[in-house]
Amino acid sequence: MLASAELPEGARRVVHAEGRDLAVVRVGGIVYAIDNVCPHRNGELGHGDLQGHHLYCPLHAWCFDVRTGKAFFPEGAKVECFEVKEEGGRIWARRRLP
Ligand code: FES
Repeated sequence: MLASAELPEGARRVVHAEGRDLAVVRVGGIVYAIDNVCPHRNGELGHGDLQGHHLYCPLHAWCFDVRTGKAFFPEGAKVECFEVKEEGGRIWARRRLP
């Protein structure tokens, strides 16, 4: 999906995987991936501001936790959160099993 070197600490990228665009970030050395599309009005989360584990939508600042996909603001909003594996200098993401 993405080379590890393309995602340094604090970086965010938009990557196509699992048939959709994902917002992929690295925080504290760990890679997280959530759906790139904001449920409010389709803002691209992967182009938003990353502060710690909080990723802010660039359009109206809804704020999502990259560890869970759940929004801090507004409460109750959510995007899908993907399972991530980093191995051999590559990053992979896939849907979580139910
Ligand atoms: S489109 Fe994301 S907050 Fe409005």
